[in-house]
Amino acid sequence: MWARLRLDIQWFHLIRGIFDFLPFGTRSKTQKKLEDYWSLQQDDVLACLSLRSGFDLYLQALELPAGSEVLFSSITISDMPRIAEAHGLVPIPVDLSGCNFQLDLASLENAITAKSKVLVVAYLFGARPDLSQIIKLARERDLLIVEDCAQAWHTPDWRGNADVDATFFSFGNIKTATALGGSLCRIGHQEILDQMRELQEKQPVQVTWNRPVKLIKYAMLKILSTRVVYYFFCQLCRFRGRDLDVVLRGFTKGFSESDLLFRLRKRPSCVMMRMMYRGLKTYDTQRIEQRIQNAHQIIEHLELQKVEYEPSENSHSYWLFPYFCSAPDQLVLHLRQHGFDTTQRGRMEVLSPPDERPNLICPQATELLNQTVLLPCYPEMSDSAINQMCDLIIQFNPQQSFIHDSTGDTSKSKNALCKQ
Ligand SMILES: Cc1ncc(COP(=O)(O)O)c(C=O)c1O
Repeated sequence: MWARLRLDIQWFHLIRGIFDFLPFGTRSKTQKKLEDYWSLQQDDVLACLSLRSGFDLYLQALELPAGSEVLFSSITISDMPRIAEAHGLVPIPVDLSGCNFQLDLASLENAITAKSKVLVVAYLFGARPDLSQIIKLARERDLLIVEDCAQAWHTPDWRGNADVDATFFSFGNIKTATALGGSLCRIGHQEILDQMRELQEKQPVQVTWNRPVKLIKYAMLKILSTRVVYYFFCQLCRFRGRDLDVVLRGFTKGFSESDLLFRLRKRPSCVMMRMMYRGLKTYDTQRIEQRIQNAHQIIEHLELQKVEYEPSENSHSYWLFPYFCSAPDQLVLHLRQHGFDTTQRGRMEVLSPPDERPNLICPQATELLNQTVLLPCYPEMSDSAINQMCDLIIQFNPQQSFIHDSTGDTSKSKNALCKQ
């Protein structure tokens, strides 16, 4: 059974993680070394416990008036708007469109009011659509622009769009180049960065006594995601009547939902930052190349370029491959029965508008998310596995799939979702 995702960490890094406990250098020196390395000595970076911790610090530093609006890409994890709310701000969803889940310009224009202060753009599943129109509009309306690149890290030297105000990366448990936690935040305004540093200095340091247990747990999960072991694991879940999605979510969850801010407001530990530093320095970008190649193979095999995807038109690193289908639940079951574990939305949700602005519901984003099956395309997947998965998709009741109609003619695609 091919797992839905594999942990993107090499054995070498997991084992080296044990030695990070040796007292070489101090925590503050390690933080400086990491930030200097990634900022190329430009002093525009803060290392944080998690992306959410960085975002919390950013909002604290901005000191926006209560009731200010923070516009979000409507599909995101629920903690991001919850953090804004905890600061007395109002999260506002902006609808998305197209296969790359890009912000819909008309919806953005419609959502902006005099109270709007910040726009948070999430790059979903590794897609990095062109932001130039969005940036132009946001600048005209005096919005700060924040990039949420939790799912879009793909190479150590990419630090986000130079024209935005802040870019946040995550090295959480299931992210590319994971350090089993941690985040790097590039902040465009020196005074805001200084303020964030000052606020972070007052926070307690994350505890590290549980780090060896975490390393062992993730070593086990790495073994678990190999084909044979994963097959037996899935059988076991079935035998015990457990929902695979729930079990896996429990394994990889980060912070518990209670006391979110209390849990986020910690300084990253020395051991975590050492792992981030090593990950950045030694990451094998061939892995991303392979992932992109696998995704292009899916596109070609399913002839998606005729109806929706144009690989050369956008930058995409395919953390996961979003495939649109009118019967996603059945497709997930069909693939699972034939050796491919896929899933639907993970922790992502469509943000609801505030009660006083019900017109801002996001029908396109809701439809996109409801009809997306997340296909694996990680570098360990062989060409034949990708082909087999695609053949299964083609065999899957073609009338129900957006991609192939009953004649198998992709040019008659019913996929209206992805027409730009
Ligand atoms: C879109 C998005 N934003 C933010 C985050 C939060 O990242 P972190 O776990 O580093 O706080 C995630 C994590 O899954 C995410 O997918």
